Amino acid sequence: MLKNVLVTGGAGFIGSNFIRYVQHKHPEAKLVNLDLLTYAGSLENFKNLPNPQNHRFVQGDICDQSLVENLLRDEEIDTIVHFAAESHVDRSLKGPDAFIQTNIMGTFVLLEAARKVWLQEQKFNGNSVRFHHISTDEVYGTLEPDDPAFEETTPYAPTSPYAASKASSDHLVRAYANSFGLPITISNCSNNYGPYQFPEKLIPLIILNALTGKPLPIYGDGMQIRDWLYVEDHCDAIWSVLNKGKVGESYNVGGGNQPPNIEIVTTICTLLDEANPSSDFCPHAQLITYVTDRPGHDRRYAMNIDKIYQELDWKPSVDLQEGLRRTVNWYLNHIDWLTVIIKEKDYQNWVEINYQGREGQ
Ligand code: NAD
Ligand code: DAU
Repeated sequence: MLKNVLVTGGAGFIGSNFIRYVQHKHPEAKLVNLDLLTYAGSLENFKNLPNPQNHRFVQGDICDQSLVENLLRDEEIDTIVHFAAESHVDRSLKGPDAFIQTNIMGTFVLLEAARKVWLQEQKFNGNSVRFHHISTDEVYGTLEPDDPAFEETTPYAPTSPYAASKASSDHLVRAYANSFGLPITISNCSNNYGPYQFPEKLIPLIILNALTGKPLPIYGDGMQIRDWLYVEDHCDAIWSVLNKGKVGESYNVGGGNQPPNIEIVTTICTLLDEANPSSDFCPHAQLITYVTDRPGHDRRYAMNIDKIYQELDWKPSVDLQEGLRRTVNWYLNHIDWLTVIIKEKDYQNWVEINYQGREGQ
């Protein structure tokens, strides 16, 4: 295991960070990166890798079963780390179809391909392979202010099409372990932030809009709570599960940071004020604008990470203030990366679809 790794969605935010993480910390691993390059994926996200000879990029769809089967055989893949997904809750509210197709059908195709090549053709000893599925805390639904944090045993109660599609894929992964003996692990993680996150998600969107003097849209009252985790810590948690996790198990991953959205946004504004005191938009907090809430908006997420800490000795290493400072600096140093995205028609359309007519509510 972990000699030849198929990473799906390795051109997206977390997948590309994972590829960089593995190349730095475990340069001997051979990585095959299968990504369709949807609006969320970019070749720019994994430029200048330290070991390009151990990374092969394949542009393709995880729903293409013969492509996936051939990759498993030809590249002698022993480990699948499955990130590829439609990942934005707001987009799932405007157009759920792609979420059902990629997140449910795509995961099904990968599972079938793994079952066929690993278990039926017996290409590998069943113990030397692993299907690791990347999932989310959103499968557990939403918490009231005093509810205890989500545990691995918390019943699934997804509320958005995105979360429901991820919950479906988790169920399929577990069914393949139970019914066919596929060696699987699952990690359910909270909100990630850090370099290369597409500027449709809260933190990079706020940085981008603040830099360009646009309104900083706060859904509803801004008191929703997320459990923020710096993306490199997530990559480290995944690596721990791959190496030390017990086959068949799920592990919750989170940052233990729980300020409301409005506090995240004001912290970013302060960091930008400090970094750029002569900006025309200082103080950046003047750009904060409350807008119509997201329909069915989950109020609070929080992850209980006792299991991964006690069993695998993993805990987050980057605190929220430090992670936000690193993130703001990364975006300030990668304005070119942002500029390419904001010039794309798809991005402009999305901003119009999601934000037009929403202000001042
Ligand atoms: P992202 O949207 O940034 O990247 C998704 C990647 O998947 C893109 O590169 C895209 O091109 C690719 N992709 C989409 N459809 C595909 C298909 N049919 N075939 C092949 N590739 C395809 O997503 P992300 O934020 O990096 O999330 C990665 C994974 O982590 C997802 O499974 C998501 O559910 C999960 N997750 C995300 C977070 C978060 O905060 N971002 C938290 C927990 C779990
Ligand atoms: O919890 C894990 C999930 O975190 C992942 O599974 C998803 O893939 C990822 O997108 C993320 O989902 P969220 O919906 O929590 O992330 P988002 O960045 O879209 O929103 C974070 C919070 O900020 C949420 O409460 C909605 C709010 N928000 C978001 C946007 C885009 C705003 O107030 N204004 C905005 O413009």
